[in-house]
Amino acid sequence: MNANLKIAPSILSADFARLGENVAEAEAAGADLIHIDVMDGHFVPNITVGPLVVEAVRSITELPLAVHLMISNADQYLDAFAHAGASSLTVHVEACTHIHRTLQRIRELGLRAGATLNPGTPIAALSEIIADVDLVLVMSVNPGFGNQTFIERSITRIEQVRAMLNQENPQADLAVDGGINANTAGRVVKAGANMLIAGHAIFKGKHSVSTEVLALRQAAQSI
Ligand code: DX5
Ligand code: ZN
Repeated sequence: MNANLKIAPSILSADFARLGENVAEAEAAGADLIHIDVMDGHFVPNITVGPLVVEAVRSITELPLAVHLMISNADQYLDAFAHAGASSLTVHVEACTHIHRTLQRIRELGLRAGATLNPGTPIAALSEIIADVDLVLVMSVNPGFGNQTFIERSITRIEQVRAMLNQENPQADLAVDGGINANTAGRVVKAGANMLIAGHAIFKGKHSVSTEVLALRQAAQSI
């Protein structure tokens, strides 16, 4: 059993007309943080939410808010997301020309800094910043949409990032995002992930949000 296991429901698949209720239900079921996907229609082919929604969610939960920025010009919006109440900001290495500076700025704002990689980006892209992050997020689908199929190659990538973190930054979280459900959760945890981000499986599952949160935690601990 991994005491450091964190379940992060992604509100991308929530019912936005009942967002407060969905978040409250996830919190009551023992979710560890709330994952908020920000998409700009430029870095990824979809548009979602901005600081306004982060602020709204901030007002209705005690949980940390993990904001995943899938946007081209992250530097321009870091302050706005910090002021809106984000607890961590995770940026894509593919989208940041000066990734080291961006991570530094996130920490200056008092937030946890995360770096994430698309499935097609070599893990080596992390090598020079691995000691400067609080979180590495391995994308296990191509970002932009919920309810996509887990890319199997992600297991090897998680193992590689875990080895890197063990060497240089063992305190950091290793998150995995995309296609996480009761079938994939155990294997990604075994590969070294400790934070499971899940949208469809939690908010669009067969059962209630709380049942799905519990089922995912159980599945994660089952291997
Ligand atoms: C995809 C987002 C994910 C998304 C995952 O670009 O970053 O956070 O919500 O969705 P599921 O869990 O449905 O694959
Ligand atoms: Zn995400």
